[in-house]
Amino acid sequence: MSAAAGEPAWGWLPEGDLLTRGERIEWVGPSAEAEAAWQARRGTEEAEVIELQCRLVTPGLIDAHTHLVYGGDRAREFEMRLQGASYEEIARAGGGIRSTVAATRAASDETLFSAALARARALLAEGVTTMEIKSGYGLSLEHEARCLRAARRLATALPITVRTTSLAAHALPPEFEGRADDYIEAVCAWLPQWHAEGLVDAVDGFCERIAFTPAQVERVFSAARALGLPVKLHAEQLSDSGGAALAARLGALSADHLEYLGDDGVAAMAASGTVAMLLPGAYYFLRETKLPPIAALRKAGVPIAIATDHNPGTSPTLSLLLMLNMACTLFRLTPEEALAGVTRHAAQALGLGASHGQLRAGWRADFAVWAAEHPNELAYRFGHNPCTAVVAGGQTVPPSHLHRTA
Ligand code: NIG
Ligand code: FE
Repeated sequence: MSAAAGEPAWGWLPEGDLLTRGERIEWVGPSAEAEAAWQARRGTEEAEVIELQCRLVTPGLIDAHTHLVYGGDRAREFEMRLQGASYEEIARAGGGIRSTVAATRAASDETLFSAALARARALLAEGVTTMEIKSGYGLSLEHEARCLRAARRLATALPITVRTTSLAAHALPPEFEGRADDYIEAVCAWLPQWHAEGLVDAVDGFCERIAFTPAQVERVFSAARALGLPVKLHAEQLSDSGGAALAARLGALSADHLEYLGDDGVAAMAASGTVAMLLPGAYYFLRETKLPPIAALRKAGVPIAIATDHNPGTSPTLSLLLMLNMACTLFRLTPEEALAGVTRHAAQALGLGASHGQLRAGWRADFAVWAAEHPNELAYRFGHNPCTAVVAGGQTVPPSHLHRTA
């Protein structure tokens, strides 16, 4: 068995073994030492041996930025963009996010859940065992709560770790037209209620000229911090609004998108340890040409993560492996950086850096098994799923969960 812990120089063990106990990794090391490690720990419990057939093993992948719960689709908007309309024009004309809000509000709880379940299964089939799921298409007290409940429920239906994020500050709902500050005030009042129901692990916002100003985002972040919730931000996607620097100043876990990030933003992120969450699917699908400042982020030592940003408007992909390939081809990340971006740096972006995303003793026993010889193949092939088995929390995921249905 091979193990890629995603550490510098891949952290690759050409012949390795793992011992797990309960939901955790107990030991990881060279196969030659596995027998001794097992004998040293042998107790009364029965051991189960999972034969991995000399295959490559990586940590379970982590998709740390998704909008998995929503109604409807935006295929018609895609056609309009192909005919020349821009994403911003469609949004300003009341389409875009707002059209998904209408479809989400109209969908039943069961419809929302079953659509999200199919999407989560598709991710799991590619070895994704941890996913972050944002709200942001309900935009009212009750509709945001419905979406967050659907996200939470996914972790009871599938053997995955789900981190939920409130993205109520995503767009202005129609009932608050012309009253953005009133909406922000409402979001600040709703947050404690979602939090009291245990629905929120973090708080996000969309800081952009078609969404909310830095001052408005800051108000939402203050409300989050008053509840002890970590923050993150959609920042510098379409213009440089200074969102990443604001997020970093408030200790954000991540700043996401970042195509228009300037030097000040990079420096602020480096100083606060904020992860740069790059989303090549949205860059590709919106046919962006301005690249995120990869060289500056690298030079400043900012950890880089990669995610699908799955959503109906800017990134309707359900393949995190395709994002690895795009991170390399479009953003010129190395395959090793890309893999770190969906394992240990993605864990860091979720505040799970000490428990998820690495094959290390004490970390959660989440791993994916691949029909591949070397981890660089995960970024090299595209439109292809070499995942042959998934172990989540020490348990082999039943093949029935690995069927792509979305
Ligand atoms: O991450 N940028 C803002 N939010 C989403 C897009 C939402 C939508 O168009 O529905 C994103 O790209
Ligand atoms: Fe997003």
